[in-house]
Amino acid sequence: MSSGGHGSAYDVEFRSVTKRFGDLTAVNAVSFQVQQGEFLSLLGPSGCGKTTSLRMIAGFEQPDDGEILIGGENAVGTPPYKRDVNTVFQQYALFPHMTILDNVAYGMKQQRVSKSERYARAREALELVRLTGREKHRPSMLSGGQQQRVALARALVNRPRVLLLDEPLGALDLKLRKEMQIELTRIQQQVGITFIYVTHDQGEALSMSDRIAVMSDGVIEQLDTPAEIYDRPLTAFVADFIGEMNFLQGRVTEARDGEYDLDTGTGVVVRARGEATRGQAARVGIRPARLRIAAGSTNAAIHGAINAARAVVDTKMYLGDEVQVVVTLDGGTQMVIREQRVDSDESHDAIRPGDPITIQWDRTAPVLLAEPPAPDPTPAED
Ligand SMILES: Nc1ncnc2c1ncn2[C@@H]1O[C@H](COP(=O)(O)OP(=O)(O)OP(=O)(O)O)[C@@H](O)[C@H]1O
Ligand SMILES: [Mg+2]
Repeated sequence: MSSGGHGSAYDVEFRSVTKRFGDLTAVNAVSFQVQQGEFLSLLGPSGCGKTTSLRMIAGFEQPDDGEILIGGENAVGTPPYKRDVNTVFQQYALFPHMTILDNVAYGMKQQRVSKSERYARAREALELVRLTGREKHRPSMLSGGQQQRVALARALVNRPRVLLLDEPLGALDLKLRKEMQIELTRIQQQVGITFIYVTHDQGEALSMSDRIAVMSDGVIEQLDTPAEIYDRPLTAFVADFIGEMNFLQGRVTEARDGEYDLDTGTGVVVRARGEATRGQAARVGIRPARLRIAAGSTNAAIHGAINAARAVVDTKMYLGDEVQVVVTLDGGTQMVIREQRVDSDESHDAIRPGDPITIQWDRTAPVLLAEPPAPDPTPAED
């Protein structure tokens, strides 16, 4: 739309960015755009290229190929200190001999901001992270969560265009991490600064982000809202990485009017919504909570039934409000079912390992995944 750098709708943009370390391609032709004020998470397993992507935005690494735009302007070649971005790391690296206030004000001293203004802005940043009253303390007198708040105040004090956060809560225990997740979301909404947040914790990404980029092996597999990523994962990797997913695979035998039939070849036919091509090999995913136990040990003649499968119970576990049942289908596929106990039929209490049962699902439950299943490494037993 606009040709100049000003008024660009994107705070950060990758255009086919590649970064190699010797033979290894850490980031492979990645493109994405981050909107102003957005909370975007880069989510993926260890080594998938999250930190490398972040370091290229910060300017600590240079891409081998492609373009990086910050605020609509080409940033490649611009040194880190001239970029309108700041980074918060997992190790908060505060100066131990300085007070909290001086830690936050320190960066501005280098920029020759007057003393009174430095302290006024540092106090404001400490108020934002709710540390008013701790100005005179040293970092060692604060808890881990509080120290991370100081690091955050220090990064925000200059009001950068973009804040980069690399697993900032990784060193905190679970309870503190949950608290800080809520705090970070509040702070981001209050200051309206674009956050790019690196994590390998899918729960964290789902709960905090406007959008999530799911990365694997140097590429983004899917970039979308948490709800879309969860409800409509495009690939088996995304489906498996975000929450739990049951998989069924087979061949599409019918496809019309936005519905298809997938014959698994083991007596189960999946009928679901989606655009498939007749004859194609395909794989679907079904979330554990979308499976129902339809009947106890009376699962007689449903061979070839639609959206139902005979199975044998492997285990049953109480998970507080939920019950988790693991079953093996006639074809040998294992599936996980999770039922809310308040909604669960009383007869399910009697289910025991070894019992034959029937599981069912709605035609809205299966998600058609983009890539066909890999060839089955274990030959069918029959
Ligand atoms: N300076 C470097 N020299 C050589 N290889 C590197 C360098 N930095 C990163 N890599 C490699 O690039 C790949 C991506 O690394 P990166 O740090 O971006 O992963 P990550 O997604 O942040 O993982 P983690 O969750 O473990 O932090 C890895 O295989 C890593 O070993
Ligand atoms: Mg990393």
